[in-house]
Amino acid sequence: MSSAELSVFIRAIGVHTPERKLTNAELSKMVDTSDEWIKTRSGIAERRIAAPGENPSDMGAKAAAKALERAGLTPADVDLLIVATMTPDVPFPSTACLLQAKLGLRRDIPCFDVSAACSGFVYALQVAKDMMRSGAYRRTLVIGSEKLSSVVDWSDRTTCVLFGDGAGAVLLETTPEKNVGLLGNLLGADGNNSELLHCIGGGSAAPATTDSLRDGKHFLRMNGKEVFRHAVRVMAESCERVLAQCDVKSEQVAWFIPHQANSRILEAVASQLNVGMDRFPSNLERYGNTSAASIPLALEEAWTDGKLKHGDLVLIVAFGAGLTWGATLLRWHEPPR
Ligand code: COA
Repeated sequence: MSSAELSVFIRAIGVHTPERKLTNAELSKMVDTSDEWIKTRSGIAERRIAAPGENPSDMGAKAAAKALERAGLTPADVDLLIVATMTPDVPFPSTACLLQAKLGLRRDIPCFDVSAACSGFVYALQVAKDMMRSGAYRRTLVIGSEKLSSVVDWSDRTTCVLFGDGAGAVLLETTPEKNVGLLGNLLGADGNNSELLHCIGGGSAAPATTDSLRDGKHFLRMNGKEVFRHAVRVMAESCERVLAQCDVKSEQVAWFIPHQANSRILEAVASQLNVGMDRFPSNLERYGNTSAASIPLALEEAWTDGKLKHGDLVLIVAFGAGLTWGATLLRWHEPPR
């Protein structure tokens, strides 16, 4: 059998979320908002906030260690590491390299970050799959890890209520079995709309200065209404396109695991696809938007809740800054607990 015929499946999954919960009631004391407004507009009740010194490489390493433990494997068994994050520990080196050291992965493996904001996990899955199908890498850790609390302006009520911190990791493995694991996928981007959700300071174009810090240029800024509009259209379209590509009808999909951005976005996408919300599991209420970590967090929760069954078709779909988007259809392979 040629290596091009290998399939790639999720052998194990693990997550880590910081202990500290920040509730809507607490936020209401920080900015002019209310529990009712936040819940009605976003579905979020609380989010996790990383402790000082608890960085994406730390959270990601813990999530990955859990996945390895569940698989009964060790760091030495990993052949490739890809980290999706929009809040890297430092501009360089990559969070993947920092995580490699913390987890004790081998030194003869590639480790790199993927920068696609909230679509990062779906992008990283696709990159991993394509690298693995060649047969060069048998086991890959794909990790989404974010510390959005570090780029949120805590005085801006239009954004600070939406985001949170956390990490999720999957261990991918190749198999000669057909029609399992990651089946079809698509990725897209629209850099012409980059200003709808961005952070303009702190990079090489505008290095941090006293003035840039004073002007809050290192904070995330968003045009919420426009982002909402694009998110609904692009997520629904991506689902439809990947289903058509795989010749699968939406009725055949057991679970839709969308990027957890906002409950109203999820409702609108479900409605456009004519799918009931009972097939759109969500943990937004407890974590808010954790960007690249949100899909593995939601996937793990749907699995530990007993929703995902071996053989189920699962459609994951994401949208984020860039703009970027992506969708992957997968056949769920029951991982070890
Ligand atoms: N608490 C109370 N009021 C708030 C508020 C808050 N946290 N944030 C905004 N408001 C106010 C606005 O100032 C505005 O007041 P005004 O009418 O006096 O000007 C009013 O609420 C309505 O604001 P608007 O922006 O029209 O609300 P909205 O219904 O569009 O909801 C979002 C705002 C951000 C929740 C919504 O646009 C959204 O979810 N967008 C997508 C965000 C997202 O998911 N981004 C990540 C994608 S990966």
